[in-house]
Amino acid sequence: MSTGPWPGLEGLEGRRVHVHDVVMRDGLQNEPVFVPTDDKVRMVDALGRTGLSKIEVTSFTSARAIPALSDADEVMRRIERVPGVVYAALVLNVRGAERALDARADELDLVVSASETHNLANARMTRRQSRAALREVCRIAGRQARVNLSIGTAFGCPMEGPVAFDDVLDIGDEFVAAGVTGISLCDTTGMANPAQVRSACAGLAQRWPGVELTLHLHDTRGMGLANVLAGLEAGVVRFDASLGGLGGCPFAPGASGNVCTEDLVHMLEAMGCATGIDLGALIDCAARLPGLVHHDIRGQVWRAGPATIRHPRPADFDEIAARAHARQRL
Ligand code: COA
Ligand code: ZN
Repeated sequence: MSTGPWPGLEGLEGRRVHVHDVVMRDGLQNEPVFVPTDDKVRMVDALGRTGLSKIEVTSFTSARAIPALSDADEVMRRIERVPGVVYAALVLNVRGAERALDARADELDLVVSASETHNLANARMTRRQSRAALREVCRIAGRQARVNLSIGTAFGCPMEGPVAFDDVLDIGDEFVAAGVTGISLCDTTGMANPAQVRSACAGLAQRWPGVELTLHLHDTRGMGLANVLAGLEAGVVRFDASLGGLGGCPFAPGASGNVCTEDLVHMLEAMGCATGIDLGALIDCAARLPGLVHHDIRGQVWRAGPATIRHPRPADFDEIAARAHARQRL
């Protein structure tokens, strides 16, 4: 769906970019309704056939903390595994890791926040306690599953304000040494701006060689896709996004939706990046979301259609054109 030979796209044209969808975890955790297990399984199965690289299926947390995902074990066990797709699950402690491994998650997505305040509010642990628990998870996971570390509030905390980037690096260093396959920098409440993202991501590939770096961006303040572009320019090729733009952490005041998956894929493909995703199939999935969550969704492209669609000209177009051409000839 490339727009054609425009100057300035050289660096992006043809670049393989991996899109991970997190609607079933980040999206549903923030919804007041409980989406029935059968519907969750059907949605994951449909998403698995769109070409996404990774799907975050659920989280293995306390059912009291996140009632919307209390059926994590059943969902993870029942989904269809499309070859090549990584089926991940969020984990905050050893108990969650054991449940996720039992249910055959391909990847454990561990979470610790860069901000002490958000970590306490979210995980009910100090960062030190979370880090100790998650190091133990790395040990348990061993060769059974891939392990990604998500660093929450990496670009700012809605309660504390600015976060020291050295804290983010320190957490990342520790878990790279513990053997994680990936690190995600998470902008939990959409506080990041493109200049900050560009500066944060530059140099991380050298600092954490061989580790897959992902940006997990929320669009709380309309900077989501601009932040994606900043990340791309800094060499990032993995992005989390949520179908329909749902999402948000229930323990982060003011949190709202992630970058919208179909809008992100549309933008990447328009710039000539290769996502391997069938945008039409993704839009079909998005169109089913309002029926599951019982409200409208934020995404733009499922409503407008891709930029490649062509609308009919106005009914009186021929008349308008004839009159304009006649005037031109005078
Ligand atoms: N799965 C299921 N239940 C769990 C669990 C897990 N991984 N970990 C703890 N629990 C249960 C315990 O059994 C206990 O239940 P009980 O009160 O019925 O006996 C209860 O949760 C509290 O256990 P405790 O170990 O004291 O945990 P905690 O109160 O310190 O809470 C978390 C820690 C991580 C379990 C909890 O804060 C949580 O689930 N948070 C969710 C965070 C989240 O998903 N945020 C959004 C994404 S970033
Ligand atoms: Zn998130």
